[in-house]
Amino acid sequence: MRALVTGVNGQDGSYLAELLLAKGYEVHGTIRRASLPNMQRLENITDRITLHYADLSDASALARVLYEVHPDEVYNLGALSDVRVSFDTAEYSGDVTGLGCTRLLELVRQLPGVRFYQAGSSEMFGVNPDVPTNEMSEFRPASPYAAAKVYAYHMTKLYRDAYGMFAANGVLFNHESQRRGVEFVTRKITRGLAAIVQGRASELVLGNLDAKRDWGHARDYVAAMWLMLQQDEPGDYVIATGETHSVRDFLDAAFGYADLDWHDYVRTDARYFRPVDPPVLLGDASKAHHELAWKPEVSFEELVREMVQADLAG
Ligand code: NAP
Ligand code: GDD
Repeated sequence: MRALVTGVNGQDGSYLAELLLAKGYEVHGTIRRASLPNMQRLENITDRITLHYADLSDASALARVLYEVHPDEVYNLGALSDVRVSFDTAEYSGDVTGLGCTRLLELVRQLPGVRFYQAGSSEMFGVNPDVPTNEMSEFRPASPYAAAKVYAYHMTKLYRDAYGMFAANGVLFNHESQRRGVEFVTRKITRGLAAIVQGRASELVLGNLDAKRDWGHARDYVAAMWLMLQQDEPGDYVIATGETHSVRDFLDAAFGYADLDWHDYVRTDARYFRPVDPPVLLGDASKAHHELAWKPEVSFEELVREMVQADLAG
């Protein structure tokens, strides 16, 4: 089996590439040129995967890679994944996070038999207050990022219905790890805590502490992506833990491991607040439990501990 993963050097891309290698796949991934090295997450597997330059805004580069590789499975993980930044880059977010998916679908359609995974997000539910949300819940996107993901979701479904493609949407709730990008709140907290413990910082500046998110571990979530493409029929699946915790809860748990009271170190600043921010995201993954036999293995407490320990050691 041969797989192509867009955004392979991201958090999820790196875990998915490891999972696919362990299953015996030939793994190809797309990357973009960067002025500084950004392949750290692939350190352990660089010599076992093939990297190709292609931006999701560049249909001709995507076509070259797809025709060269001719994969059995395509996982579209590439996106401008920072929700706050998407407010500053609304048009670019639509192009890459939304239209990028359509560019791939158009190309994959011309290669019969290829299975396609689209990385959807719980942000698509946005300000829907009827939690927990599942596959039947209404999307009420509250950011340019989320609106672009909703468009990509519908295009994936449309290509499945219109052309009979094996195209699946994962609607994944927040998932984290020690490889999480440093700008996301969980990693910002665990890195900030490590800097405080090691005397390199005296405070941590955050935004909305009241937001509640359904946080799981990225390793568990990439397993669900793979399972979706192994089914007899393609479908759409919510992937979540079924528990929600506030940013304050995360602070309690993280600083608790270091025997510190976060109130002594954390302050908030307007620049980290968003124009709109879904107050609570909580998922119901019953369909994935029944049809994919998928269940998360890492608890909230284990996730926080792993991230704190990794940043204290790093
Ligand atoms: P991530 O660490 O930010 O990785 C995103 C990847 O997309 C990176 O490899 C990045 O490359 C690439 N990318 C960015 N812009 C691109 C472009 N114009 N063309 C091609 N590639 C581009 O995100 P992640 O946490 O692994 O998430 C993976 C996917 O799942 C994303 O689509 C995200 O929106 C979605 N998702 C994530 C979560 C979550 O909680 N982690 C939840 C739901 C959905 P560079 O390194 O060059 O920027
Ligand atoms: N990033 C960040 N930085 N978020 C903060 C901060 C801060 O200093 N302070 C509070 N928050 C709050 C945000 O306002 C949000 O309510 C919550 O913490 C989580 O923010 P992020 O960690 O940035 O993640 P996200 O939920 O916006 O988006 C992530 O999860 C989505 C799935 O729901 C990303 O991975 C998206 O790509 C993904 O789709």
